[in-house]
Amino acid sequence: MSKLAIKGGPKVREKSFPSWPIWDESDCQALVEVCRSGKWWSVGGTKVKEFEEKFAAYCGCKIGVCVPNGTLALVVALKALGIGCGDEVIVTPYTFIASASSVLDVNAVPVFVDIDPETYNIDPSKIEEAITDKTKAIMAVHIAGLPCDMDAITEIARKHHLKVIEDCAQAHGAEWKGRRVGSLGDVGAFSFQASKNLTSGEGGIVVTTSEEIGERAWSIHNVGRVRDGAWYHHPVMGSNYRMTEFQAAILLNQMKKLDAETARRNENALYLSQRLSKIDGIKPLKRDERVTTHAYHIYIFRYLAEEATGVPRSKFIEALNAEGIPCSSGYVPLYRSGMFDIDPNACPVGCPFYGKKVVYKDLHLENCERACDKEAVWIMQSVLLGDRKDMDDIADAVEKVMSNISELRD
Ligand SMILES: Cc1ncc(COP(=O)(O)O)c(C=O)c1O
Repeated sequence: MSKLAIKGGPKVREKSFPSWPIWDESDCQALVEVCRSGKWWSVGGTKVKEFEEKFAAYCGCKIGVCVPNGTLALVVALKALGIGCGDEVIVTPYTFIASASSVLDVNAVPVFVDIDPETYNIDPSKIEEAITDKTKAIMAVHIAGLPCDMDAITEIARKHHLKVIEDCAQAHGAEWKGRRVGSLGDVGAFSFQASKNLTSGEGGIVVTTSEEIGERAWSIHNVGRVRDGAWYHHPVMGSNYRMTEFQAAILLNQMKKLDAETARRNENALYLSQRLSKIDGIKPLKRDERVTTHAYHIYIFRYLAEEATGVPRSKFIEALNAEGIPCSSGYVPLYRSGMFDIDPNACPVGCPFYGKKVVYKDLHLENCERACDKEAVWIMQSVLLGDRKDMDDIADAVEKVMSNISELRD
């Protein structure tokens, strides 16, 4: 008889894992309080302001500016740095589309640099060769919640007079050498979208240690007004990127649990990595010893057994799901998404201010391709909020699939 659940054998796990978001009556009360106050708008309300101050301080930053989502947080961050027409921004292709679409949105050009095969973050040793006289910034995306090598990235930026934007959408509370992400570059952008480790369904914030960048971000998010300026005075080109009081009320309440949840994810993930690293053909992503806290928005491990076993990752993932472990394969390289099939003669990539032409479909960044097409296996953050037994179920299921992998051959 088959042993694997996908072939009719018994499952390792019948029970579900913790779902997300986790909420209680206090979240409902926070919303009702805003509703009854009649102050639903950040102008005149108190919740957005309170959250901006608390979250900025939490990140070690001076200023926070709440916006409707993480995509717009990146757009506001880029605009606050003055990035626009004719500028290049270096970015990883192993990320959510917004890391690069935000660059196009401000009429600048994303330049993709390959990832480190062991961390899946941008490979700093490949950044310098991508720098040109058009490069204005490096976007450090802390993918899955693992901080990028910020020592190397900030050193390159300093040497070439570039700005650093941190895309912290997946990295609430993550730390590099004891400092929280968001405060390590010039400006940081977070998302509070439904899946994120801190969520209000939708939401985002721009944080910075620089008063100048913070004030520009504030103006841009508030239709070009200046703080304490007249209501109909709009000296800056901005838009309406304001958050509602309801979102901030939920965030203030949810934030109380963030550190405890992050600690739980770290404890469980480290244990899981210990167990998975003993299984042939499986390798957890490397965690640099300078990473003092990982946010583990996604727990990623590498499936390295295709060549030896002839079984592709897709079958391994199907088999693991059948054992009761929810997992998936994750991203495709961003430059392969339909939206990068851009007319090379149109703005921004064919813009006369830019003076060059970029054709993304010719790109082939080897480490990113391998991670996306063959190796990466994702387990989402709420699964890590379970207990030791839950982690053992995951490791037992991976062990079971790997020791019976011959059942998956065609
Ligand atoms: C790395 C990264 N950047 C940016 C974003 C955009 O955030 P949002 O979905 O809130 O617009 C996300 C969200 O999925 C993300 O994962």
